[in-house]
Amino acid sequence: MEMTTIHAVEKPRIRLEDIRITFPRTDGTELLVLNGVSLDVGIGEFVAVVGPSGCGKSTILRAISGLLTPSSGRVFIDEQEVAGTPDHVGFMFQKDALLPWLTVTGNINVGWNSEACRPASAGSDAGS
Ligand SMILES: Nc1ncnc2c1ncn2[C@@H]1O[C@H](COP(=O)(O)OP(=O)(O)OP(=O)(O)O)[C@@H](O)[C@H]1O
Ligand SMILES: [Mg+2]
Repeated sequence: MEMTTIHAVEKPRIRLEDIRITFPRTDGTELLVLNGVSLDVGIGEFVAVVGPSGCGKSTILRAISGLLTPSSGRVFIDEQEVAGTPDHVGFMFQKDALLPWLTVTGNINVGWNSEACRPASAGSDAGS
């Protein structure tokens, strides 16, 4: 996906500055997903990113939420450069990322208990 600046707001809540994101391919080449993407989102703005499957929409969201670091360019939230996952940013994944052998509580606690990530724990947690 390539685009130029959508528009500039004075104090954007979210700002993407000339983002470039690539992923390594198995053959050693690079998949260029985002190139020169700049975007400002102002207070109270509702923004929809529309494009064909695979054009990089989720990649943009991952960069905003700090789950991905751009190959180049910068991401800001409330004028603070994003480095890691900001604690006040929510991110709704496109696909659920739940472990089906765990309960709701088990899924919530998964980060606290790495044992829970292993399917071997299926029997002990099922239905609790
Ligand atoms: N971690 C990754 N490693 C390698 N390639 C990736 C990775 N994440 C995404 N890609 C590739 O980057 C491209 C953009 O993916 P992305 O998920 O951002 O697309 P999308 O626009 O959200 O698509 P969809 O509409 O299907 O959700 C795709 O070709 C995808 O296969
Ligand atoms: Mg997507």
